[in-house]
Amino acid sequence: MGAIMDVIEKNKLRMNELAASNPRLAKQVDALDWDELAAALEECIFEKDETGLPETYGPASYFPLNPETPEQEILYAQAFECGESLIRAGKTAAFTVAGGQGTRLGYDGPKGTLGVSPIKGKPLFQLFAEQILGISEKYGVVIPWYVMCSPLNLETTLAHFEEHEFYGLGQDNLKFFAQGVMPATDFEGNLLLASHDSLALSPNGHGGSLKALIDSGSVADMAERGIEHVSYFQVDNPLVSVINPLLIGLHDLQRSDMSSRSLTKTGPFEKLGNFVSIGDRVTIIEYSDLPEEKALEKEGDGRIKYRAGSPAIHVLRRDFIEQFASGEIKLPYHRAEKKVACLSETGEALAPEQPNAVKFETFVFDALPLAKNPLILEADRLEEFSPVKNMTGVDSLESSQADQVKRAKRWLANAGHAIKEDAIVEICPRIFPSERALLGAGLGKYDLEADSIYLG
Ligand code: UTP
Repeated sequence: MGAIMDVIEKNKLRMNELAASNPRLAKQVDALDWDELAAALEECIFEKDETGLPETYGPASYFPLNPETPEQEILYAQAFECGESLIRAGKTAAFTVAGGQGTRLGYDGPKGTLGVSPIKGKPLFQLFAEQILGISEKYGVVIPWYVMCSPLNLETTLAHFEEHEFYGLGQDNLKFFAQGVMPATDFEGNLLLASHDSLALSPNGHGGSLKALIDSGSVADMAERGIEHVSYFQVDNPLVSVINPLLIGLHDLQRSDMSSRSLTKTGPFEKLGNFVSIGDRVTIIEYSDLPEEKALEKEGDGRIKYRAGSPAIHVLRRDFIEQFASGEIKLPYHRAEKKVACLSETGEALAPEQPNAVKFETFVFDALPLAKNPLILEADRLEEFSPVKNMTGVDSLESSQADQVKRAKRWLANAGHAIKEDAIVEICPRIFPSERALLGAGLGKYDLEADSIYLG
């Protein structure tokens, strides 16, 4: 601890000196939580060699996409009904984490404002809003939507929603708030300056969402509205089912604090976090941390053992989130080595070509081992997951649009409609929030022979 406190004291002295003649920097330095920084330095700089892998663990068990036994069939039917009645009773809320910096995408604006739908170019935020509207209309209930931004993109996100009149959801049913930030340091723990009057600050990871939900008054607002379950999803996945009755029902029936969707990995080394179990608890081991021999282990039937990967879709009980209020339980920091433009000791601007800095982030999935009765429900990748991380290539705008079109065509085909093989199809999530809605719809007014078909 002595070494950490030395670094903290050195940082304090240097920052106070620089801040003396600089009001903006002084404000940032005043707002710094030095104890939090000391904890982050301890976990990420001074103990960084420890992998943090649990001593013993095995692959987590999960509920399969489709029930595999008569008991499961009964449970799934009950769970679906339970989920629907919770939604109808106004006990569920949608929650999007949109505080990331989207560096891989390289888009100048909050990621949620990027046009992603294949024909109309609807922004991600609009697709989620329309799905929420569609579900609200189906169940005759208001579903409040909480959107976590960062101090860097809160204003622009709000302006986007104002410009689009909150996509018809009603301003009162939407709450935007900023997550916390952490300062970046060099590899020794010395704070970095982004400019002469500002620290290099960045959002504290999606794990910051639990504290931010509390500090912003969102959890109190949920309690007032009678919300019991919070449906958590990332801003970059246009296929996500924003409120899923089956997952919510299973989660409620099993008295789970935190439940998750899983995807069956395409191979042992797919870059998804791995769900593992430690006794009766669940945790995620990042793809880079799962030892190779574990990743390659197989079941008797030839399937890999560690096949449940995480698409970062969860349902959390409101009263589980409330437990993070006191600060007694908290999420660990992870070390991210990044290139951070900053000033050198002599005040020159540096644009590093190699990672030069440590950013401190917490991850929401680290709440899983703290959750009682956690459960995992497999999701169909083609139906529910195609994130926009990059402009082209893997997990890109390009691949996601192709997946959106494929899903829309599959839904139409399942509803008994023949469409041209090369047609481009987009389906409005408000009118058809799910395949079920499409199945019951008469499609008389749509020209299904066209090359480009917009249903909505
Ligand atoms: P990613 O890990 O994909 O990060 O975030 P990112 O910042 O969006 O993109 P890159 O890595 O810089 O290219 C996954 C989800 O978590 C949110 C993101 O907005 C996204 O929905 N997130 C991430 C936050 O809300 N806050 C953070 O501090 C980090």
